[in-house]
Amino acid sequence: MTADRKKQQAAQAALAHVREDQIIGIGTGSTVNHFIEALAAQKLRIRGAVSSSEATTARLKTHGIEVLDLNSTGELDIYVDGADESDRQLRLIKGGGAALTREKIIAAASHRFVCIVDDSKLVEVLGRFPLPVEVIPMARAHVARALRRLGGHPVYRESTLTDNGNQILDVHGLSILDPISLEQAINQIVGVVTVGLFASRPADVLIVGGETGVVSMT
Ligand code: 5RP
Repeated sequence: MTADRKKQQAAQAALAHVREDQIIGIGTGSTVNHFIEALAAQKLRIRGAVSSSEATTARLKTHGIEVLDLNSTGELDIYVDGADESDRQLRLIKGGGAALTREKIIAAASHRFVCIVDDSKLVEVLGRFPLPVEVIPMARAHVARALRRLGGHPVYRESTLTDNGNQILDVHGLSILDPISLEQAINQIVGVVTVGLFASRPADVLIVGGETGVVSMT
């Protein structure tokens, strides 16, 4: 089975967590794109969606799903998003699609974070996937030096500008044994907008698509 088919299965299973009349936070990426397709096909009468990126906004609008401003919705019942890695405590690395800042904001504003992945994303220790860090452009070199002092090897993701007009450093070579401490340490570096570690606020449910179907972890 392809990774894409596994993502599609996980996305389909996430529909079981959605109720009519909810406003849903929606992430970014190929797995979430399957979720949007499934949501549109199901014809559930949701009240609307809060989007984590311009790309997701465009896709939601294509399906006639109303996109709402988080400033006017209050807290969200549910947030559905993919991830680049998850450990067994549902702590995540996100940001492969450069949407980490808005994703983290929506995750923080949601009661329930349902994360959908294929089984290649599940790891024992986070860090195989290079950790994305969104930075203010003028601080890029300063932040890179600080990340090196923390033991990482930051690489500038050239030709990528986030929806917020910022740049991304991908930090290689980390074995993240204490994700909460590392998230806090990177957050302290002046010039960092967001680190793609979702450990202080992990997922609440992880739906993993694999060869034999989906498994839900809480
Ligand atoms: C975007 C993300 C995505 O959730 C992550 O990159 C996974 O993407 P995909 O579903 O395409 O594998 O964090 O910033």
